[in-house]
Formats: sequence, C-alpha cells, structure tokens
Amino acid sequence: MVCLGNICRSPLAEGILKSKVNSQEVFVDSAGTGDYHVGHGPDPRSVSVASQNQMDITSQRGRQFSVQDFDEFDKIYVMDMSNYHNVLSLARNESDRKKVDLILNEVFPGENVEVPDPHQGDDNGFTRVHKMLDEACEIIAEKYKG
Ligand code: 4NP
Repeated sequence: MVCLGNICRSPLAEGILKSKVNSQEVFVDSAGTGDYHVGHGPDPRSVSVASQNQMDITSQRGRQFSVQDFDEFDKIYVMDMSNYHNVLSLARNESDRKKVDLILNEVFPGENVEVPDPHQGDDNGFTRVHKMLDEACEIIAEKYKG
C-alpha cells in the first residue's frame, strides 16, 4: 500500500487489508513515495477513523518505498496517479511495472479513480478515504482466499 507520506492513506489501507486476510498467508505493508515522515506514526485522524472501525494502527511507522519492494511484494497498490508515476519511475522492468496499480481499479476496473489526499482537509476526508479503502480491500481480500 503506497501513498505520498505514509501517514494518512496507506497506513489505513494496510490496517484495513490486514484485518481482512490471514496474516500467515498474506503479508501486508505500506510505504510512502516521499521521505518526509520516515519513522513517524500515522496521522491522528487516520488513527481515529481506524479506531472507530475497531483497528489499532498506532504501531505503524512511516517508511519510504524503495526498489527492493518490487522483489518483496507481488502487488503494489498506489493511491493516486502521482504515487503511480513515482513508483513506476523506480521500476526496473516489465515485471516490476505489472505489479503496480491504483487501488481503486479493484472497485472501478480501468477507470483510474484516485484516493484523494486527505492531509490538508477535514476529518470527513478521512472517513471518505476509509470507505473507499474498505471497499477495495474487501475485493482484494477475496482474491487471496482459498
Ligand atoms: P498521505 O498524506 O500521502 O496519505 O500519507 C500526506 C501526508 C503528508 C504529506 C503529504 C501527503 N506531506 O507532504 O507531509
């Protein structure tokens, strides 16, 4: 799960998908394309919306996406087109590039709908982001069942 800062959207996406899959079978992590928040915990507004939905994401710490992530992960979900281009700029080959997709393409295939950055907005933005990510993660989790 990749966004820009790894403090608002992708920590929520990580928490939501983890809550829907078997951790023995599926490893879920998140990262930011930027390095502004490396080592920081999630934004309090993401912590709050997670908590309202019975998830504790407070132990997550920000890290920056790196080229090794293409080797570690089968699938790389990005939140918006800016993240998409930033991640693709690090891809080494077609196999790397094929791993990357906008997460909402799971809900609206091929439409390239973005999860908007809620960082500058109000709390409603975080609630909306949670709803979008929950819908996408439900579909993703189904794919990893059985
Ligand atoms: P995120 O939101 O990419 O969803 O974690 C942001 C958080 C911080 C910044 C940008 C986006 N920032 O520039 O500090």
